[in-house]
Amino acid sequence: MSHFPAYRPRRLRMSENLRRMVRETTLSPADFIYPLFVVHGRKVKREIPSMPGNYHWSVDMLPREAEEIAHLSIPAVILFGLPASKDPVGLENFADDGIVQQAVRAIKDAVPELTVITDVCLCEYTDHGHCGLIKGERGGSPRVLPSSQGLPEGTILNDETLEVLGKVAISHARAGADLVAPSGMMDGMVAAIRQALDEAGFAHVGILSYAAKYASAFYGPFRDAAQSPPRFGDRRSHQMDPANAREALREVALDIEEGADIVMVKPALPYLDVIRMVREAFAYPVAAYNVSGEYAMVKAAARMGWMDERSVALESLTAIKRAGADMILTYWAKDAARWLRAEG
Ligand code: PBG
Repeated sequence: MSHFPAYRPRRLRMSENLRRMVRETTLSPADFIYPLFVVHGRKVKREIPSMPGNYHWSVDMLPREAEEIAHLSIPAVILFGLPASKDPVGLENFADDGIVQQAVRAIKDAVPELTVITDVCLCEYTDHGHCGLIKGERGGSPRVLPSSQGLPEGTILNDETLEVLGKVAISHARAGADLVAPSGMMDGMVAAIRQALDEAGFAHVGILSYAAKYASAFYGPFRDAAQSPPRFGDRRSHQMDPANAREALREVALDIEEGADIVMVKPALPYLDVIRMVREAFAYPVAAYNVSGEYAMVKAAARMGWMDERSVALESLTAIKRAGADMILTYWAKDAARWLRAEG
């Protein structure tokens, strides 16, 4: 027999209890943030075709859903709104009776302890589908700042957009949001929102920043759900190049400097290295977004009978946590909470 070292890894794998004793990472419902898509209308609970098991909800349906989520011990939801109409600025985005503002109030009235996070971006509200104001779009930029004067028409304007983001954050805070989550990857968005919130008397409202958000094809199903695909062009002028990891550290450092309370890496599974790097470089809570494409791929494969959804989902979520995420935004939040409960 060849030389065998004394350590025999299989000893600690011989029973379920031994495996439980040496397990390094455990999932809990407290790790999850559940995304909800809110639409106008009444009595709407419409399944999103590209994301089976997730729905478009009207506001009147949210109290029951919020109770169910809280009952599953999930601590937080993140809200995405589909407005009644779109325009170049996205006016409903910061309207007092906007869809997200109504949803926040409805959820907070019903289940005050459920943490409500709101996505802060322009793309679901603008008719061009971009995350910022567009130079040259009718009404798109009422006043182009000097810094943007040399830019060609069609450019996403950065500093002009910051003002809108500040207004959106304030209106979400006024409705009762606990955290706002800017996802548009505009330079300076966290600083602008922090300043706007502070000046409006919302110093207690935190910022979960989509700090390292990649220009990813894994957002495909979400763009169906949020009806937010760009009408022309793409998002590569503001979202990160998937080839870059060191740059993520610069993005995160900047957001922390600007006042972010929690920093997010998005997507999750193809970017576990980035999650790990951010975890090791910063002493701030790290969120990871297990995005629509990561979910839809597994759903589709499970439907084909090619993979077991539950095992793949729990393995994926465990891997995201193992990589260093403190919290995971996931469309599996409710299912996973139930599966974990069943496992005891
Ligand atoms: C932008 C936003 C997007 C997602 C969350 N916020 C879409 C995008 O950047 O195109 C994607 C989430 C997912 O794919 O699950 N408001």
